[in-house]
Parts: sequence; structure tokens; C-alpha cells
Amino acid sequence: MSLSPPHFPRITCSSSTFFIVITILSVTIFPCSAKSSDAASATHRGGHRQMSYEYYSKSCPQVEQLVGSVTGQQFKDAPISGPATIRLFFHDCFVQGCDASILIDTKPGNKELVEKDAFDNRDLRLEGFETIDKAKSLVESKCPGVVSCADILTIAARDFVHLAGGPYYQVKKGRWDGRISTASNVSGNIPKPNSTLDHLITLFATKGLTIEDMVTLSGAHTIGFAHCEHFLGRLYNYSGTSKPDPYVDPRLLKSLRMSCPEHGWNPDVISPVDVTTPFLFDHAYYGNLEARLGLLASDEALFIDQRTRPIVLELGNDKGKFFQMFGAAMEKMGSIGVKRGRKHGEKRKVCRVHGGV
Ligand code: HEM
Ligand SMILES: *[C@@H]1O[C@H](CO)[C@@H](O)[C@H](O)[C@H]1NC(C)=O
Ligand SMILES: *[C@@H]1O[C@H](CO)[C@@H](O)[C@H](O)[C@H]1NC(C)=O
Ligand SMILES: *[C@@H]1O[C@H](CO)[C@@H](O)[C@H](O)[C@H]1NC(C)=O
Repeated sequence: MSLSPPHFPRITCSSSTFFIVITILSVTIFPCSAKSSDAASATHRGGHRQMSYEYYSKSCPQVEQLVGSVTGQQFKDAPISGPATIRLFFHDCFVQGCDASILIDTKPGNKELVEKDAFDNRDLRLEGFETIDKAKSLVESKCPGVVSCADILTIAARDFVHLAGGPYYQVKKGRWDGRISTASNVSGNIPKPNSTLDHLITLFATKGLTIEDMVTLSGAHTIGFAHCEHFLGRLYNYSGTSKPDPYVDPRLLKSLRMSCPEHGWNPDVISPVDVTTPFLFDHAYYGNLEARLGLLASDEALFIDQRTRPIVLELGNDKGKFFQMFGAAMEKMGSIGVKRGRKHGEKRKVCRVHGGV
């Protein structure tokens, strides 16, 4: 097992500055406010165009440069926007399809809760939403009423993968934004860190994603952070055994226990999901799993189970293969439940509010 030397950057949230504390293996950051907030493939209806790489070539040829200028700046100012936006894209696609339904705000005075209010979306970071707001407003200023929020989210997620050191892949465009965003539609569609592998496989299958896609997409955990509550169950009394999860390396266990004490742990403390290279989009995530350095039980499960272990080993040994498969899997995820045309979709002016064209 080779561990690369820890980075010692100082990154800023959009609102407050926070520090990173390096322990033996893990980096812990606190406290930074991180709180916020189908499966059908696209059908051709009403004569609306299919998704394509050139979808906006006439109506907004510079859309990717516009989004790129925002993501590039955002990556400098608040690098946490990267993992935040990639996860936002995932949570959007898994509920009602990739239709930016996750961006909708509750109307003032309206009691009906929207997707972002749902329990499973409770720790989506504000930086992801803020990035899309900025990109949308720049795109609207140049190509009003043309580009969907769903396409902007797809492009931004791709940009951040690349900015963090990952692959650059082309994205198809042509998604329309969804007209429905309700909190009640979320439950059961977002995987949990303590989900069994059987459950994860079934859930991804309902979205048209294979076991291979699932293992590949989980590689997004090569960047970003998780709160104590998501892995606390592994540290002290794993499945009622009164012992920690045996699949946590003892050194990792020690440092995670320091960050997240059994009693009185701080709900704002976060720990890197990729404990070796938390800011770099690389394939170290898979090597970590082999070394019992996976943070979430759902990560480590990919190595423990025979159905997924060969894929973990392959991707851990071949960064080129991981990068190529990751781009393809993101494209596949990006086509879940895509809406086209006015009957099911809209092109919003402001991503947080329904309506527009
Ligand atoms: C396989 C099932 C998955 C489970 C159970 C899962 C669960 C989680 C959990 C619990 C967190 C920590 C959230 C927090 O405490 O703030 C997290 C973070 C993250 N997840 Fe996943 N995830 C899964 C798949 C994915 C996929 C498919 C993607 C994207 C392709 C993804 C991207 C991310 C990113 C980028 C972060 C870091 C977010 C940040 O730092 O703000 N995850 N995930
Ligand atoms: C989502 O919620 C809306 C309104 O609550 C409901 O009409 C619709 O059937 C739900 N969609 C799914 C896929 O559950
Ligand atoms: C997973 O954790 C949640 C919340 O901590 C809990 O309600 C649920 O019962 C757990 N599920 C399993 C399969 O252990
Ligand atoms: C561990 O959890 C089990 C079941 O949840 C409980 O009965 C037991 O007392 C716990 N052990 C410790 C040491 O807390």
C-alpha cells in the first residue's frame, strides 16, 4: 500500500474559512456549514430533437465555454464546489431523471416540500447549487431561454471531474427541465452508505445501470467528504457486535475515532472519502478499498463482495481504463429519464424556479 503525502491546502467555503486537520490517514475539516438543503430512457415525442453533442451548435454555440468560465473560477475560489456539483448531478439523475428537479426551491408560503428538502438530500452542499446559479445566469445573458438547467448541471459536473484531474469527456445535450419536484419522490431512490450490495445493485439496475456502471460511478468518491453520521456505525459497534467493522484498517480506525468520538461527535466534522488523495480525481479510491481504507460501508462492500471485487481490482490497476469507463458511465447516468419537449419539460429562466419558455 502506498500512501501519497498529505496535501496541506487551505480552502475556503463560500461563506467562511475553515481549516484542515491532518491526522494519520485522514483529513478532517471543521466546521464548515455544508447543510442546505424514471428509469425510462428518453422517448421521442412531439418532434423534439434527440440529445446530441451539437444540440446547441446553432442556438448557443459557446455554451460550454460559458459554463467552463464559471466552473473554472469556482474551482479556484471554492474547490469544494467540485465534489458538491458532481454529487448534485447524481442525486438529480436518480430522482425523476436528469431534469434539474433537484434545483427547485420551495415557493415562499408553500408547504409542499421539494426534492432538495428531502432527508436523503440533507447534506448536499450549497456550493453545487451556487455554481449552477452562476453558470445559468451567465448563459442566460448570452443565449436567453435556450439552454436547460439540466444540461448546465451535466456540463458543470463534467468540468469539475476534469478540473480535479479526471478525464474530459464529451457530453450530449438536449435535456429539458422537469416540471415536478417533490420531496416524497426522493425516498428509496438515493442509495445509503449502509445499503447492502444487493440493494445497491437493484437500485442502480432500476436506473438502467449495470454492476460495472455502479462500481465505476462510485469512483466519484475519489474526491469529496462525508459527515461522521455516515460511517460512525463502523467505528464502535458494527452491526451490534460491540466491535468496529473488521474492514477498517486499524490506523484509519484510530484517526476516524479521533475525528468522530462515539459520544458527542460534531455533526459538522467531515472526513475525506478518499483518505489518500482527497482532492485529486484519480483511481486511488479503488486501491484504498483493497487496503481496507474505504470510508463508507457501501464503498468497502464493493471490494468485499465477489461480484464487484474483480471490477475494483481492475480499475485500481488501470487508471486509463477507469477514466475511459467513468466518462462512459457518466454519460449513461446523464441520460436517465431525460425529458424532451414542452409536454414534460420546461426551460427555466432561473434554475430554482419553475417556468420560463
Ligand atoms: C453507490 C452508492 C452511493 C452511496 C451509498 C453514496 C453515499 C454518499 C455519502 C453518504 C456521501 C457523504 C455525504 C456527506 O456526508 O456530506 C457521499 C459523498 C459523495 N458522493 Fe456518493 N454515494 C454513492 C454513489 C455516488 C455516485 C454514483 C456519485 C457520482 C457519480 C457520488 C458522488 C459523491 C461525491 C462527489 C461526494 C462528495 C460530496 C461532497 O464532498 O460534498 N456518489 N456519497
Ligand atoms: C412524484 O410526485 C408527484 C407529485 O407528488 C406524483 O404525481 C408522481 O407520480 C411522482 N413520481 C414518481 C416517479 O414517483
Ligand atoms: C441505515 O442507517 C439508517 C440511518 O442511520 C437506519 O435508519 C437504517 O435502518 C440502516 N439500514 C440498515 C440496512 O442497516
Ligand atoms: C451494540 O449494539 C447492540 C445492538 O444494537 C447493543 O445491544 C449493544 O449493547 C451495543 N454494545 C455496546 C458496547 O454499546
